[in-house]
Amino acid sequence: MTPAIKIGEPFITADAIRLRVKEMALQINQDYTPTGRALSVIIVLKGACFFAIDLLRHLTVSTRLDFLQASSYSGMGSTGEVHLHKDITMPIAGTDVLLVEDIVDTGLTASWLLQHLSSHSPASVRLCSLLDKPRGRRIPVKIDYVGFVIPDEFVLGYGLDYDEAYRNLPAIYVAKPY
Ligand code: IMP
Ligand code: MG
Repeated sequence: MTPAIKIGEPFITADAIRLRVKEMALQINQDYTPTGRALSVIIVLKGACFFAIDLLRHLTVSTRLDFLQASSYSGMGSTGEVHLHKDITMPIAGTDVLLVEDIVDTGLTASWLLQHLSSHSPASVRLCSLLDKPRGRRIPVKIDYVGFVIPDEFVLGYGLDYDEAYRNLPAIYVAKPY
């Protein structure tokens, strides 16, 4: 059984998330509007859904959407292994791609996914992540758009889960063991 956890006050409130997501969208609009091309937005299931949809509501550039799902396993001393559960079905060759993640921790998932998307010969690939836990990093990843840099704590809510629970919370909380 999964150990019980407790959550306290919001670590990042729903209001703070709303403001920051809007700011990130404005930056993305500024960067991509001059291209005059549609942006291929690739959302990483499941955690990034809440963030990505809120972000998309503020995008004024034209977008094309697809999803992928992956999980990372990092065995003792290994560099880690990423399993792709669902791949994109939309062609992205020659397009500008924006990969949308909930959180970058070790960096294994994001760097694997960036490489995977690059193999489809897009015009460009950038990474957008709501959260960044730089202390957890095992491989370097360039995050082009970051919402919040957070300490090395396990967080949940606003898409982030603990054993599939808590994703629907509107704010982000730090999980503490009982
Ligand atoms: P990474 O490959 O270690 O960078 O981890 C990426 C994935 O691990 C994220 O997409 C999340 O699904 C999960 N993850 C990492 N840290 C947290 C956390 O604090 N809360 C919930 N999920 C997390
Ligand atoms: Mg998860």
